[in-house]
Amino acid sequence: MTNKIEIKNLTVNYVERGVNNTALDGVSLTVKEGQFISIVGSSGCGKSTLLSVLEGLLPPSEGEALIDGVPITGPGPERGVVFQQYSLFPWMTARANVLFGIRQAKRGISHKDARLLADEYLGKVGLLDAAGRYPSRLSGGMQQRVAIARALAMDSDILLMDEPFGAVDAKNRTILQELLLELWQNEAERKTVVFITHDLDEAIFLSDRIILLTDSPGRVYRDIKVDFPRPRYRDELMGSLIYDDFRRELFADFFGDKNRAAENDGVII
Ligand SMILES: Nc1ncnc2c1ncn2[C@@H]1O[C@H](COP(=O)(O)OP(=O)(O)O)[C@@H](O)[C@H]1O
Ligand SMILES: [Mg+2]
Repeated sequence: MTNKIEIKNLTVNYVERGVNNTALDGVSLTVKEGQFISIVGSSGCGKSTLLSVLEGLLPPSEGEALIDGVPITGPGPERGVVFQQYSLFPWMTARANVLFGIRQAKRGISHKDARLLADEYLGKVGLLDAAGRYPSRLSGGMQQRVAIARALAMDSDILLMDEPFGAVDAKNRTILQELLLELWQNEAERKTVVFITHDLDEAIFLSDRIILLTDSPGRVYRDIKVDFPRPRYRDELMGSLIYDDFRRELFADFFGDKNRAAENDGVII
């Protein structure tokens, strides 16, 4: 498989009122086409900063970030983005939000085709009935479904997701994880996904690889392969001994050696 994303020795410094704050320090990372990777680390370790660089909103202070071998210079429709919240335009209905993404990504698409595509993806996330509603009339989980529908309907090669289920309650988070996995697994052309989370169980369930970052400034601490076969089914996976072992090791790695913040039900705070 070819390298879709290459991050080489990436350092990002924020300078505020003359004070330098290094958010990322020499991060190197390669993501193969079609791979699903999670980036995990404590709050403030530079995860969102890394995503902003991949999105093209923030230039590296040192090093480089490439997509298909080409340095990133700005945002582009080949990268769909889903944030923790506020991903949707509040003045547009769910359908209009998805349509907006489609028109960005597929210039010249006819109105009819765009609408069919929008409704196809709203259907996939179970929200066709809510297509005419504005975000303020959708729950947080529903809003994130729309955001996922938009990102997938754009048919971007790459999905960048920054704690997309972080603000969703536990039950809906589980449902959304399964939905994302199912959609990702069934896409004809499998997307390359960079998924940011501070939830280790979420990372294990979804990913091919987990990148653990150190506390601030973020550096790659571990690059761990997640070999569980796909398709994955939560009950099957999480009930298995091999999962328990993997999880225990990952937690030990994360909390043990590095004297990290306390564990709280799988969530790092
Ligand atoms: N726009 C900014 N200006 C200055 N400092 C920032 C900015 N964004 C983030 N930071 C700082 O960079 C570090 C990493 O932040 P961030 O990437 O948001 O971490 P995470 O997403 O892992 O919580 C933090 O110390 C944060 O305060
Ligand atoms: Mg963040």
